Amino acid sequence: MDKYCVFGNPIGHSKSPDIHAAYALQTGQQLTYEKRLAPLDGFPAAVRAFVAEGGKGANVTVPFKLEAHKLCGALTMRAQAAGAVNTLLFTDDGTIGDNTDGAGLVNDIVGNAGVPITGKRVLLLGAGGAARGAVLPLLEHHPSQLTIANRTVATAEALVAQFAALSGGAALSACGYEAPRGQYDIVINATSASLQSDLPPVPAEVFGPGTLALDMMYGKEPTVFMQFAADHGAIVRDGLGMLVEQAAEAFMAWRGVRPQTTELLAQLRSKL
Ligand code: ATR
Repeated sequence: MDKYCVFGNPIGHSKSPDIHAAYALQTGQQLTYEKRLAPLDGFPAAVRAFVAEGGKGANVTVPFKLEAHKLCGALTMRAQAAGAVNTLLFTDDGTIGDNTDGAGLVNDIVGNAGVPITGKRVLLLGAGGAARGAVLPLLEHHPSQLTIANRTVATAEALVAQFAALSGGAALSACGYEAPRGQYDIVINATSASLQSDLPPVPAEVFGPGTLALDMMYGKEPTVFMQFAADHGAIVRDGLGMLVEQAAEAFMAWRGVRPQTTELLAQLRSKL
């Protein structure tokens, strides 16, 4: 049976084995998928060991996405753009690195939330790894505007410079958290602030009725960002849909079959 796994440290909390087991059952694919705790200083060796055991592919989570990017022999365009890899494909010709996080995000926004990105004003909060992976997939949907706001403005400016040639007609700009003006159609929190119950200090006016405010984090309770956005009229969404969708995209890359996600998302939500 084809073998897959997810590497991380810590890894105990990972929902990926359950998600991929559900996709395999649903699509009739024969595979196994397990969690692997890689030592912080031993990620490449852990990958080599899994390949030696006949592993066909793997997901990569915190804190190894940048290291995974470095060890691949080839990268998909979206992995190059993201500068990080969350999906590995082990082939006879070597390891291919992909990044399905951004596609997972836009599929969740457009497919699950039913909110089109095309022609819309989009505000992306954060300019770290998670935000960088989202930029190209968002631009591919041709928003009218993509504003990248970050605590460290220079990092947001570097992202704008990196993606300027790929803006596809979108007005692409960088600023600090306080700078955005007027209501946005979509506001995405790609910062790690929610982990510390912190809130990027964006003006309340960016939210309003009809704004979709999405936090890439998820948990039993809404994050402070989701609470703030909801208090100012936005429709809120956490990162559980993105998680399920990035996994579907990885499953597609490995198996060539796209699983249905709606039912699984509802099931996972009920178990949070
Ligand atoms: P990840 O891979 O999760 O994106 P990262 O690359 O370390 O992690 O990026 C974290 C992002 O969250 C950055 O945009 C960071 O802002 P800086 O670039 O200024 O460091 C942002 N961030 C982290 N903690 C934050 C906080 N308490 N308030 C606002 N932004 C925060």
